[in-house]
Amino acid sequence: MATCLITGGAGNLASQLSWSLAGRYDRVVLFDVAPAPVAAIAPGAVFERGDLLDRAGLDSLFVRHRPAAVIHLASLLSGSCEDDRERGWAVNMDGTFALFEAALRGGAPMVVLASSVAAYGGTLPETLREDTPQWPDGLYGVTKMAAERLGVYYHRRHGLDFRCLRLPITVSRFAPAGAASALASHAFIEAVQRGQYTFCVRPDIRLALIYVRDVLQAFLGLLAAPSTGLGRRVYSVAGVAATLGEVADAIRRRLPEAKLRFDPDPAASALLASWPGRIDDSAARRDWGWQPGFDLERMADDFLQVLRVETGANAR
Ligand SMILES: NC(=O)c1ccc[n+]([C@@H]2O[C@H](COP(=O)([O-])OP(=O)(O)OC[C@H]3O[C@@H](n4cnc5c(N)ncnc54)[C@H](O)[C@@H]3O)[C@@H](O)[C@H]2O)c1
Repeated sequence: MATCLITGGAGNLASQLSWSLAGRYDRVVLFDVAPAPVAAIAPGAVFERGDLLDRAGLDSLFVRHRPAAVIHLASLLSGSCEDDRERGWAVNMDGTFALFEAALRGGAPMVVLASSVAAYGGTLPETLREDTPQWPDGLYGVTKMAAERLGVYYHRRHGLDFRCLRLPITVSRFAPAGAASALASHAFIEAVQRGQYTFCVRPDIRLALIYVRDVLQAFLGLLAAPSTGLGRRVYSVAGVAATLGEVADAIRRRLPEAKLRFDPDPAASALLASWPGRIDDSAARRDWGWQPGFDLERMADDFLQVLRVETGANAR
């Protein structure tokens, strides 16, 4: 019976991944220090509460479930890492090290890590490539970059089938409130829920984005890829490269009554303008057939539909 273990199992992506993985694995186990998943998980998926930093607990988890694949999502995100550097380092670095060690001891052949474009930093070229030098600006990015390297080490020296997706800003209804990276998500959400949204950045800023459904597809694609076809272990993926003005227009075309305004703040604009506008994901396309299903138009259609259904359901 093949089991897929997801760390960070109570989080945003894990809840959604449990549904995508349900038909492909006999059992999906979600593991998290938090008490309960943010959203419904697939029927049959098992939730196990525990801390990545508890080595004995982690070993026991691997002994009980013998996962054929581990998807490592547990992490403190960028704001939390800066707010609590001690915990950020402990979870993202010590926790990731503990996970690789537990995978080796527990005989789990494959670990797939969720990394982020935050693993880059400084002045970036127009199009970000996998071999663009990685000098992250924040602690989160530092830990993501180091976790990528650690995974490659376990692959080369210990034969672990390590794979990694480097994700851009994800457009999702669970985007963290207040995070600059969540701006595009919140424009959609607030346009539906409140009929208005004010972008605090310039409309000409171009951002590389990915719709959450494509993130789920990317995990499925990378999990299923034959190891022999992988020319590298860390792959960038992207779906949409749009200016925020184009995002606003896509919303306006579908919700003409929504009031979308731009009131740019120089500091917020400078921050977003420093993020990648385009990502070269040709290696993923070549090596394992990655093909995003959602461009800006398809993403706008689908996301607004999801939000309308949810808002209608909440209003009833
Ligand atoms: N969502 C995005 O936009 C995005 C973009 C790039 C990368 N990622 C990466 O994808 C992964 C999942 O993202 P998400 O949006 O679901 O994040 P999330 O914050 O919703 O989930 C992370 C989970 O990790 C858990 N966790 C924290 N410390 C733990 C510990 N010590 N032991 C066990 N669990 C612990 C948290 O409780 C949380 O449920 C993260 O690694 C993130 O860095 C996400």
